[in-house]
Amino acid sequence: MNKETFKRICGNYVTGVTVICSKKNGQDFGFTANSFTSVSLDPLLILFCLHKDAKSNYALSLKNKFIVNILSDKQSKICHIFSDPNLDHNDRFKMIDSTESKNGIKIISESVAWIECDVNEKIDAGDHYIYLGKVIDGKTISKKNPLVYHKSKIKKII
Ligand SMILES: Cc1cc2nc3c(=O)[nH]c(=O)nc-3n(C[C@H](O)[C@H](O)[C@H](O)COP(=O)(O)O)c2cc1C
Repeated sequence: MNKETFKRICGNYVTGVTVICSKKNGQDFGFTANSFTSVSLDPLLILFCLHKDAKSNYALSLKNKFIVNILSDKQSKICHIFSDPNLDHNDRFKMIDSTESKNGIKIISESVAWIECDVNEKIDAGDHYIYLGKVIDGKTISKKNPLVYHKSKIKKII
C-alpha cells in the first residue's frame, strides 16, 4: 500500500488533539499531537508517537516528565501554534496562557484536561518513536468540548 492510501484510511479514525509539553535544562518544549492514547490501568500508562526529527525528542529522555494537554474546541489556534515548524518552542509559549505543574511542566490554560507522566519507555517504530508514559498526576479543567481531528482537518463536535 502507498503512503497516501494509508493516510486516507487512517484519516477516517477520529482523534482528539493534544499539546505535549516537556522541559530540559530550563527550556520548555511543546508540540501538537493526535497520537495520544490511554494504554493500561494497572499500572496507569499512556502513549504517544513522535517523529524522530522532532525537537521535543531532546527533552523526552527516560524518567523525564511531560504533560499531555487535551485541547478544547476553542483552542484551534493553539493547535496551529504548536505544530508550526517555523516557530521555535520559546515563541510558541509566549503566544499562549499557561501555568506550571509542581514539577515545572507547562499546563495550557483553558484546556479540557491535563495528565502528567514520567517517560517509562521509548520504543523505536519506523520514522517515529513510541513514548510510553507512567501517569503521576492530572486534572479535568473544564467541561468544554474537545477539539477533534478527522480527515486531516481540525473540527468541532456538533
Ligand atoms: C492535529 C495535528 C496532530 C499532530 N500529531 C502529531 C503526532 O502525534 N506526532 C508527531 O510526531 N507529530 C504530530 N504533528 C506534527 C507536529 O505537531 C509538528 O511536526 C511539530 O512542529 C513538531 O514539533 P517540533 O519538531 O518543533 O518539536 C501533528 C500536527 C497536527 C496539526
